[in-house]
Amino acid sequence: MKVGVPKETAAGEARVALVPEVVRKLTAKGFEVAVEPGAGAGSMLSDAVYEDAGATISDDVWSADVVVKVAPPSDAEIAKLGGDTVLIGFLGPLSNPKTTQALADAGTTSFAMEAIPRISRAQSMDALSSQSNVAGYKSVLVATNHLGRFLPMMMTAAGTVPPAKVLVLGAGVAGLQAIATARRLGAQVTGYDVRAAVAEQVQSLGAQFLELQAGKGAEGEGGYARELTDEEKAAQQQELADKIATFDVVITTALVPGRPAPRLVTAQSVKKMKAGSVIVDLAGETGGNCELTEPGETVVRHDVTIVSPLNLPASMAEHSSSLYARNVQSLLELLLGEDGELHLDFDDEIVAGACITRDGEIVHPGAQKTVEAAAPAPEEAS
Ligand code: NAI
Repeated sequence: MKVGVPKETAAGEARVALVPEVVRKLTAKGFEVAVEPGAGAGSMLSDAVYEDAGATISDDVWSADVVVKVAPPSDAEIAKLGGDTVLIGFLGPLSNPKTTQALADAGTTSFAMEAIPRISRAQSMDALSSQSNVAGYKSVLVATNHLGRFLPMMMTAAGTVPPAKVLVLGAGVAGLQAIATARRLGAQVTGYDVRAAVAEQVQSLGAQFLELQAGKGAEGEGGYARELTDEEKAAQQQELADKIATFDVVITTALVPGRPAPRLVTAQSVKKMKAGSVIVDLAGETGGNCELTEPGETVVRHDVTIVSPLNLPASMAEHSSSLYARNVQSLLELLLGEDGELHLDFDDEIVAGACITRDGEIVHPGAQKTVEAAAPAPEEAS
């Protein structure tokens, strides 16, 4: 069984899908691992350390039995995949219909890390969580970089400075990590989410839970939030507007899977904030939780800095890669039989749930819908 690890080519992508620690474990089990030259460079991992761990450094990674990637493959990369090669990586099944269609057309069997069901047995494979943890942590550091004041209370000979007030909107994986990180840095932290169940988790991190009437208890399926109705959205924005004005930093992480980012912070709310305040919007990829967010950019509006980093995990590539590689290792182990060869058991909930394309078909229902929605209407196509 040969595993290929290409060098990532997407702009700004510094992560790598396998790190030497995991390569060592795989080669000890009899795997052959081929790593493209320079694949680990962005994560400070030289070709030599991969070789020490038992990998071969080679340009011939695309025809391996399994190719493991981080970012979705480009068309050129899909064209290089071997006929029977299985692809594993973030594939954007709900946001990237072109890639899904290209993988189906190429006859590739592909597994998306973000489609792995969030069930207990799959926790060690949950790359969305491992990478969101990194993003949540880093979002606070990004905020502090743009903030002209301390996060902790400071008692100095020149006087006492009160702690900064940080509000985290959306208390899922990234949000809870942001809350924990801001607390560690001494800020006075408040967390908010529409799922009532997270209030206790927010409080257990030493933060206050912001309770609003609008959208309260909007639990959806599978532990996710449901999308709010238009009336609920308007009421939520209204209630939040008054609260937001009292914070120095607002970190937004609200997400409903497969939907545009919920708009929590309106332009009006930004206008009410104090000059010098900072918003870090993690939801830029899906349009942003703040109305004035420009995805991927840092802008100043009404004297408030609004930052929308699109790939924070890549900015901490050493740890992001290391956590991601362990997620990939767990999935690989699930896909293998006792004999160390690939045995794809599509009766397994995780294998079936994560599979996007197989035998020229798009088999993931969400990916199918996304491809259908992106198809041109019949009159446009003719
Ligand atoms: P998650 O699903 O664990 O958490 C999202 C939270 O938002 C949930 O707790 C949900 O209840 C809450 N939510 C949904 N609708 C809401 C509403 N109307 N009001 C308040 N809360 C609401 O997701 P995760 O993994 O924490 O990711 C959060 C966001 O961060 C996502 O948009 C994700 O794409 C993004 N992200 C961004 C990165 C970057 O570098 N920019 C890196 C990783 C994740």
